[in-house]
Amino acid sequence: KRIVILISGSGSNMVNLAEHCKNGSINADVIAVISNRADAAGLAKAEALGLLAESLPHKDFATREAYDERLTELVAGYQPDLVILAGFMRILSPVFVNAFNGRLLNIHPSLLPKYKGIHTHQRALEAGDKEHGVSVHFVTQELDGGPVILQAKVPVFEGDEIDDLQARVHEQEYRIYPLVARWFCAERLQLTAEGVMLDGQLLGLQGYAAD
Ligand code: GRF
Repeated sequence: KRIVILISGSGSNMVNLAEHCKNGSINADVIAVISNRADAAGLAKAEALGLLAESLPHKDFATREAYDERLTELVAGYQPDLVILAGFMRILSPVFVNAFNGRLLNIHPSLLPKYKGIHTHQRALEAGDKEHGVSVHFVTQELDGGPVILQAKVPVFEGDEIDDLQARVHEQEYRIYPLVARWFCAERLQLTAEGVMLDGQLLGLQGYAAD
C-alpha cells in the first residue's frame, strides 16, 4: 500500500510510522511526507530516512480553499491508499476531506469526544482529570469528530505538568497509530455508513486493543 503522511512539526509519529513500514510491520511504503511549514523539523527527519519530503507552505496561498485544493492535488498525485495526519496543525476543508474519505486518519491527543481542538493536555490538567489519553480516528468534516478507531488511556498524576502528560501520551501514540495503520493496510479496517468496521465487526466508540 501507498501512504502519504502530513506533518507540521517534529514528526516523531511520522518517523515511527515510517520505521514500521520499513521493517514490514505495516505492509506499506511511505511515498511522501508533506509539511505546511517549510521549517518543520520533521522534514529533515524524513529526508534522513530517505523519504521524499516536501513542503507546501500555507502562507503562500490567499485562502484556505485555495491551499486545500492545491494540497489535494499534490497528495492525490501520489495515489495514496492511505493519508495519515501526524501532527498536521491545520483544519482541512471539505475539498480535501472528501477527496480522501475513508482513507484519511488523524491522531488526536485526548480521549475523544473530550477536548477537541488544541491545548488538550493543559485542558485535561485544568479540569483535574484523573485520566487522559489519545485517539486515532477517521477524518470527517467535523473537526476531531470523525469515528474513533482506537484509544489509549494514560493516568494523570498529582503534580503532573503539560510536558509529563505529553510524554506519556506520545508513548501511547507510538503504539496505537502503527497498529491502526497496520490494520488498514491489511484491509482489516473500513469506514462504512454504519461506522468503523474491523475484521467485519462494527466497532463501538472506543474500538478495542486486540491485534
Ligand atoms: C501528537 O501529540 C499528535 O497527537 C498531535 O500532534 C502531535 C504530533 O507530534 N496531533 P509529532 O510531530 O508526531 O511528534
